[in-house]
Amino acid sequence: MDILDEIKAFLGCETPDSWIQAALEHQDLLLIDHAHCEKKAASTAMSLMFRYVERPDLLNKMSRLAREELIHFEQVLAIMEKRGIVYDHLSPARYAGGLRAEVRTYEPGKLVDTLIVGALIEARSCERFAKLAPHLDSELSKFYRSLLKSEGRHYQDYLGLARDAAGEPIEERIETFRRIENELILSEDDTFRFHSGAPAAA
Ligand SMILES: [Fe+2]
Ligand SMILES: [Fe+2]
Repeated sequence: MDILDEIKAFLGCETPDSWIQAALEHQDLLLIDHAHCEKKAASTAMSLMFRYVERPDLLNKMSRLAREELIHFEQVLAIMEKRGIVYDHLSPARYAGGLRAEVRTYEPGKLVDTLIVGALIEARSCERFAKLAPHLDSELSKFYRSLLKSEGRHYQDYLGLARDAAGEPIEERIETFRRIENELILSEDDTFRFHSGAPAAA
């Protein structure tokens, strides 16, 4: 099974075609929010590095991940600049907050859940890059295809760290978060973002 098939199986549902359509109609917004997502991904990895200094495997993987996300951030910025798209603040999608609301408040549950959420966010980003790529202009299409590889590895890193931190099967927790994730992706969402749900009918 190649990594994209594995990711689709892990996610359990595909991005709705209506979201792809909305993304193509709002490419400026897509890129601005994408830039925010890359920055946020780096910041999440770094906060894990501050919180869990006693875990060398986590420190190494998150440090590398944070560096890669910042490179992606710079790449998105460069494309935006080339296209004359002005970077601006945006309200976040409901997505990450919706997932984090289910994270347990005590250890090691808090760490395990945070890592599972990280795996889902990376996997969904990967699935969206892949599904969008064939519809984009050649520059953006090439860029999104290039991101698939690293985001695919990030998903595997998060999942591996979650299994190590738990020291017991985590399938049930994954299933709990998968259900929430799928609901956020498939239900109607009135705000378009990189991780928004199906666009609400006008
Ligand atoms: Fe990234
Ligand atoms: Fe990533």
